[in-house]
Amino acid sequence: MLITVYGANGYQGKLTLAESSRHDVEVRLVGRDRTRLESAAAEVGIPDADLRVAGLDDRAALVAALAGSDVVINCAGPFTTSGAVMVDAAIAAGAHYVDTAGEQLYVKGVFDSFDGDAERAGVTVVPAVNDGCLPGDLLAHLIAERTGPLAEITVSHFITGAAGLSRGSLRSALATMDTMRSGGLIYDDGAWRSGIPARRDRITLPGGESVAMAALPTCEVVTIPRHVQVDHVESLLEATLKASLETPITPELIAGLPPGPNEHDRAAQQFTYLLDAVDHRGQQTRGVIRGRDTYGTTAVAAVEAARRLAAGDTAAGVRTPAQAFDPADFLETLSGHDLSWTIEAIPTVK
Ligand SMILES: NC(=O)c1ccc[n+]([C@@H]2O[C@H](COP(=O)([O-])OP(=O)(O)OC[C@H]3O[C@@H](n4cnc5c(N)ncnc54)[C@H](OP(=O)(O)O)[C@@H]3O)[C@@H](O)[C@H]2O)c1
Repeated sequence: MLITVYGANGYQGKLTLAESSRHDVEVRLVGRDRTRLESAAAEVGIPDADLRVAGLDDRAALVAALAGSDVVINCAGPFTTSGAVMVDAAIAAGAHYVDTAGEQLYVKGVFDSFDGDAERAGVTVVPAVNDGCLPGDLLAHLIAERTGPLAEITVSHFITGAAGLSRGSLRSALATMDTMRSGGLIYDDGAWRSGIPARRDRITLPGGESVAMAALPTCEVVTIPRHVQVDHVESLLEATLKASLETPITPELIAGLPPGPNEHDRAAQQFTYLLDAVDHRGQQTRGVIRGRDTYGTTAVAAVEAARRLAAGDTAAGVRTPAQAFDPADFLETLSGHDLSWTIEAIPTVK
């Protein structure tokens, strides 16, 4: 099985390479700069790995560099500006495709533009395989299996610890600042809509604390309605964290920062993602995902997704995580990496 990592020398790319090398797979590094790729391969302990140089501006070279791969994992953000080129090249090379994007409109664009091409090529494309969208999409499916059709799902993200964002995440936030500030798309009444306010501005944490929230343009809003019968999906982030994401930061300032959180801060970082579902009778159900180390979890999820695509018989086309993989089984795999999940009906107050 050959897994190719594009953007292999980036922060997420190296974590993904390291995770790939823990499995019995061949790994190929592709990117636009040979020296940076060579040092990435050396850094993760695979100095003899296959390595190809191809930028995004030369489609033929890119397709040739991906040829022979079972799966391509694309870690080269911002995806808003470059992701579509990679999806197209992977399909042309006949390789399944996974990426670590968290950019909502890009991910919607992949579903809108590439489903037919991927189906005709017989390959599966799964964007947004990251620490948030993958478990959120899988858990939403498991919730709906228990509840039946839903009136709404609210996805809330909480992250604690000193680990900040990687330079790549900051560049992605900068590239999508208008969407970030507007709150992005909300799924409402059968369509994805922009410019409508979120219904909720506070969420109560499992311990009982009520927290101010603001709309966050996550990919879960794009993926969940594709397999869950639901009228409304919105997503939220703690308001203080959202305000810090909206603080203007220049490319020059980003370039001067460390590539991403160090190992110690990654290990101490904890995330909680809540999925609050309400059915048509008003019955509430809460799904809770808990984990640590967003970037490490993303690497594990991306490599697991790639291995499943290469080994399995997933239907061709653009798919959400829950459409491509068995939700409970995939989450079970992540439990080996400190991710846990629960689903609980919330008693109705009379
Ligand atoms: N939950 C989430 O939403 C989530 C979680 C994890 C990661 N992510 C996303 O993953 C992405 C990667 O983050 P990171 O921290 O690894 O970024 P990074 O360290 O800046 O690395 C980016 C990589 O992409 C390559 N690249 C960027 N633009 C390119 C272009 N135009 N042509 C060719 N190569 C290009 C870079 O190559 P050079 O070194 O040659 O510039 C580098 O290898 C970000 O978009 C981040 O938001 C999202």
